[in-house]
Amino acid sequence: MTITESSSRDGLQSLAADIPTKSKSKLIDDLASTGLTSFDAVSFVSPKWVPQMADGAEVVASVTATDVDLIALVPNMRGLENALEAGLTHVAVLTAASDAFSERNINATVDESMHRIRRIVLEGPEDLRFRAYVSTATHCPYEGEQDPDWVAHLAETLVDWGVHEVFLGETIGKATPTHVNRLMDEVLDLVPVDKVGVHFHDTYGQAIANTVVALERGVDKMDSSAGGLGGCPYAPGASGNVATEDVLWLLDGLGVSHGVEMAGVANVAHRFCSDHNLVYNSRAGRALLAARDEE
Ligand code: HMG
Ligand code: MG
Repeated sequence: MTITESSSRDGLQSLAADIPTKSKSKLIDDLASTGLTSFDAVSFVSPKWVPQMADGAEVVASVTATDVDLIALVPNMRGLENALEAGLTHVAVLTAASDAFSERNINATVDESMHRIRRIVLEGPEDLRFRAYVSTATHCPYEGEQDPDWVAHLAETLVDWGVHEVFLGETIGKATPTHVNRLMDEVLDLVPVDKVGVHFHDTYGQAIANTVVALERGVDKMDSSAGGLGGCPYAPGASGNVATEDVLWLLDGLGVSHGVEMAGVANVAHRFCSDHNLVYNSRAGRALLAARDEE
């Protein structure tokens, strides 16, 4: 299983309190020391829309860990240019199943966002690596349940255009395993499983169950966030991503290899949350830290 660690981007983007640049890059460095290598690290979006992400270039420049894959979320050509200027070689582009979410999130309909992605993929350097998110893949905060056929069509189109991986974004954490299975039925009919990743939020406590479904369907790429940090400023009610520690506990139990030291992730995330007055939200991490304190 390849885990992309999302705490420094999805984990922080909705916070009103200003997290210092140094704290963000240290979070990445400290998590890299636990064995995590892939990071949903920063976004290059409008600072008026998401002020917390305004220092993406500085965060990237301050990371000292080597052998890490830093991914930047870019919503348009301007974002791509900024990511390239920061020296990045891996970007994430963004669409959604629902127009209502897409318009509120990136001021573009789904159709317009697909055209933006096509332009980014066509005009980006040949050796650039692309992942694409299809947000609201099962539920939209404004439009309700989404049609899995439509999501599968978007995913197939993105892969046809040359996007290397499509991540299905369960933006508001409402899906249950039934929804994820239905989505996988349609997506895996059109897209090879090695090009599919999942990004689950845990609002309704279903993210680990949904992760099990994704694993059973053969998906081996997912996002998670240390300490369960996360949210989207344009998805009301959406809480954190599935916690990296909870995913690691699950993978250990299932005998799936991942190369990450769970106790290290829990220590780093717990300290980060204490330092910045944030709620530490990994159940497995809390249990591990409590057991250690009792020893
Ligand atoms: P817009 O207002 O339509 O943009 O916003 P515009 O092209 O009209 O430009 C307006 C101003 O923004 C201009 O500046 C541009 O230069 C500037 P001004 O002339 O007013 O000074 N601008 C930029 N500045 C920096 N970087 C850029 C950029 N682009 C324009 N890239 C836009 C359109 C896409 C920019 C805006 O809607 C935006 O930034 N949205 C991002 C919202 C966001 O970050 N949402 C959270 C991430 S998505 C997510 O979390 C979901 C995910 O986790 C998966 C899941 O959970 O499902 C990935
Ligand atoms: Mg998200």
